[in-house]
Amino acid sequence: MLNNQVVVLTGGAGLVGKAFIEAIAQNSGVAIIADISLEKGQQAKASLPESLQDNIDVIELDITNKESIVQQIQFLHEKYGRIDALVNNAYPRNKNYGRHFFDVEYEDFNENVALHLGGYFNVSKHFTKFFVEQGHGNIINISSIYGLVAPRFHIYEGTKMTVPVEYAVIKSGLNHLTEYMAAYLKDKNIRVNTLTLGGILDGQPESFLKNYREECLNKGMLNPEDIVGSMVYLLSEQSKYVNGQNIIVDDGFSI
Ligand SMILES: NC(=O)c1ccc[n+]([C@@H]2O[C@H](COP(=O)([O-])OP(=O)(O)OC[C@H]3O[C@@H](n4cnc5c(N)ncnc54)[C@H](O)[C@@H]3O)[C@@H](O)[C@H]2O)c1
Repeated sequence: MLNNQVVVLTGGAGLVGKAFIEAIAQNSGVAIIADISLEKGQQAKASLPESLQDNIDVIELDITNKESIVQQIQFLHEKYGRIDALVNNAYPRNKNYGRHFFDVEYEDFNENVALHLGGYFNVSKHFTKFFVEQGHGNIINISSIYGLVAPRFHIYEGTKMTVPVEYAVIKSGLNHLTEYMAAYLKDKNIRVNTLTLGGILDGQPESFLKNYREECLNKGMLNPEDIVGSMVYLLSEQSKYVNGQNIIVDDGFSI
């Protein structure tokens, strides 16, 4: 479905990113793992099937660093002659991230919002400048159900987990950044959409999985493979006039 499209995916070495990279390569796209850790990116690539290796590339990119972004856009342009899409998927957080509301310091709140939401803005801005010159582009922002609905705090009872307040603010802000940018880029042949994900299975405690399941319709927490179809759709020509939208893949958690 992707016909040699060059797709840059930030945080491509992570849990969700790796599944997206595999799906893009499987659909004949050129999937670029753009991660702050080159080593993790190379390991992620090596862990994917041999048959897909020619369709996967790895670059070191820090979404919070302007020079890193500008340099890599230039490098990819020279190497591939084009960049068709950017997927904002990285998940930066500082060492104090993940605390309960009353334990979050002002400085940590600001730093985490700056790293994550600020980082997504930073990458989007520089790629968009390139896309305007190129004459086309496609941006997909990876968001979360917690950008959409209030946390169901009861499902975390008995675990050390919570929904950090920064995360809720970051992802709800990101949802609107999509709409802002889609509108700003009118007539530029660049579309911007959000892909909102429900929770992804990653060894969470049984009690939490059971409580989470109660909030869903058929499955509960999802496997990374469950969410990749919507990503491929948003990257493909099939969604050419889907713009400024939010596709939600959460087994009904948010209804
Ligand atoms: N895992 C879930 O349950 C879930 C649910 C909903 C949404 N999401 C979203 O999916 C996206 C990916 O999450 P994940 O669970 O795969 O996270 P992850 O921690 O497994 O992977 C994140 C990746 O981002 C990279 N990264 C961190 N800082 C970076 C930076 N400054 N520049 C570039 N790369 C950087 C890390 O090296 C890592 O490879 C995030 O936007 C997250 O909010 C995840």
